[in-house]
Amino acid sequence: MSDQGISNLSSEERRFEPPADLAATANATEQTYRAASEDRLAFWGEQGRRLDWGTPFTEVLDWSNPPFAKWFVGGTLNVAHNCVDRHVDAGHGDRVAIHFVGEPGDTRDLTYADLKDEVSKAANAIEALGVQAGDRVAIYMPMIPEAVVAMLACARVGAVHTVVFGGFSSDALASRVEDCEAKLVITADGGYRRGNPSALKPAVDEALAKLGDSSPVENVLVVRRTGEDTALTEGRDVWWHDVVDSASADHTPEMFDAEHPLFVMYTSGTTGKPKGILHTSAGYLAQTAYTFWATFDHKESDVYWCTADVGWITGHSYITYGPTAAGATQVLYEGTPDTPHKGRWWEIVADKKVTLFYTAPTAIRTCMKWGEQIPAEHDLSSLRILGTVGESINPEAYVWYRENIGGGRTPIVDTWWQTETGAHMITPLPGVTTAKPGSAQVPFPGISAEVVDDAGNPVGDGEGGYLVITEPWPSMLRTIWGDDDRFKETYWSRFEAQGYYFAGDGAKKDDDGDIWLLGRVDDVMNVSGHRLSTTEIESALVSHPSVAEAAVVGAADETTGQAVCAFVILRESAADGASGDELVAELRQHVAKEIGPIAKPRQILVVPELPKTRSGKIMRRLLRDVAENREVGDATTLADSGVMDLITAGMQDAK
Ligand code: WTA
Repeated sequence: MSDQGISNLSSEERRFEPPADLAATANATEQTYRAASEDRLAFWGEQGRRLDWGTPFTEVLDWSNPPFAKWFVGGTLNVAHNCVDRHVDAGHGDRVAIHFVGEPGDTRDLTYADLKDEVSKAANAIEALGVQAGDRVAIYMPMIPEAVVAMLACARVGAVHTVVFGGFSSDALASRVEDCEAKLVITADGGYRRGNPSALKPAVDEALAKLGDSSPVENVLVVRRTGEDTALTEGRDVWWHDVVDSASADHTPEMFDAEHPLFVMYTSGTTGKPKGILHTSAGYLAQTAYTFWATFDHKESDVYWCTADVGWITGHSYITYGPTAAGATQVLYEGTPDTPHKGRWWEIVADKKVTLFYTAPTAIRTCMKWGEQIPAEHDLSSLRILGTVGESINPEAYVWYRENIGGGRTPIVDTWWQTETGAHMITPLPGVTTAKPGSAQVPFPGISAEVVDDAGNPVGDGEGGYLVITEPWPSMLRTIWGDDDRFKETYWSRFEAQGYYFAGDGAKKDDDGDIWLLGRVDDVMNVSGHRLSTTEIESALVSHPSVAEAAVVGAADETTGQAVCAFVILRESAADGASGDELVAELRQHVAKEIGPIAKPRQILVVPELPKTRSGKIMRRLLRDVAENREVGDATTLADSGVMDLITAGMQDAK
């Protein structure tokens, strides 16, 4: 972001006090911050003790071998027991865990007792398929209760799940299955998307065919959701309703070490290959459960709804694990916000009397575009706290959200965190913080964040720099799956001398010392709150036979935050073949196939050359200027200074 943008943002002067009634009964208070700053580790120890342990831990943190942390040393526990059984044991079996709403309008409520039965059956079934503690299981599912059940069943037996977003292509699935050597894939025939069944199982077949003889997968477990014709491979594929429904609902959860691996979540890095972020059991669960309880001020009477997909970290931490560990009642919705009409979300909020609502700025901007009359048609008076995650929320979108969804009453928690951090790190607390639209503001109690300059020194108030985390935290990533060196290099080498975790985000402190996030400082784009790597999309484009070279940039986009803009150089053989429009359409489709529809470039411009420095590094900054219709900046370090003129001329022609 330009300096101009920075100062515009933090000169935002609107302020919102916590409502007095909420502050009076809030779960987290000023005292929480004080306790955490007096003794950080004792504070986290206390939060760890909210969980049920087989063997209690003897040490809160072992940081003797940084950056490899061990939290809650010596303790054993079962994550699924903590998310499910203990609520039933405590007499809350009748409480609804999940209000499922299918896109076609079907609904299903699962109580905690139901969830315990389902998770136990699924655990027995996957064990019968040969899955043991430590084995990896890939989950490729629509947003249906079985997705949550499958994750918790893996946790129950100590298997490590890797959930692959259902919108990703078979190639993306194949590379993840291969990287973590998954033994089992849990999927569905399909799900409902924009009013129609959308098949998933064929993508699994394609992925496994692609891996061929080297495929590590022994079985595929298939949930019937749509009932569409689905091919099963004899000896490999089994229906969920055959093996799970008939399994016993008795399953004794084994206790695992606090550091037992829980899941691997792949996320885009600056190089083409996605990184498998590894999270482990106790620290992850302690921080997701506690932040859920504190940030959303969760009370037993609340009905919570997070609109994320379980295929992203937000769905892991704030659908599957945090809320269930806290014994919450939540809505799980399968579909898109505008099916069958643009008021669908608000209809669900009114129907289920949702009190806590968590979504992304991109969704809010879309709703803004649709107009305030749409939410106004629904009774949203049950809402008491709103949350956002995924990117900075523009102050205008924040105020719109507060007014039109929150009725001007509800605090908004703008939660900054990452796949790597596992749980909330910087966020206002709804009963404490005077909120500033556009800023995540303050580190969560027990979290030590700083904004530092190039040399790693904290910047003063009013200055910008890099966001770092200066002390380890319970839900931190433990490594990159199979690649400790890349883990150290990516996150810990930039400020090695200080031992800081480098988040990859630019940030600024305002005059009060509050933190404003300014977006990624690397080549990772943020499209609708999804992280996409420029390199990954470039690689996909270049894998098309017509493309010689590609450069991808994230250009500001009113709705999606950033949009993918691609500049391609064609191979000579293609240049005089298919017409431009056809080829561009084909390339967009090609990216969708290689990575997934969310990675489809908004715009592809065929250019004769790309702007490169003498050392051959593409100057994406200049391309971003073009994509954002700005005057092109300083191009003096280009090897060939005429290139930008050619590109901008091409851009004019294309309009
Ligand atoms: C961005 C999503 C500003 C940030 C949980 C981060 C945010 C990346 C916010 C992580 C926020 C997330 N304000 N920026 N409240 N939340 N980000 O791994 O750039 O998908 O590094 O995790 O999203 O994205 P990820």
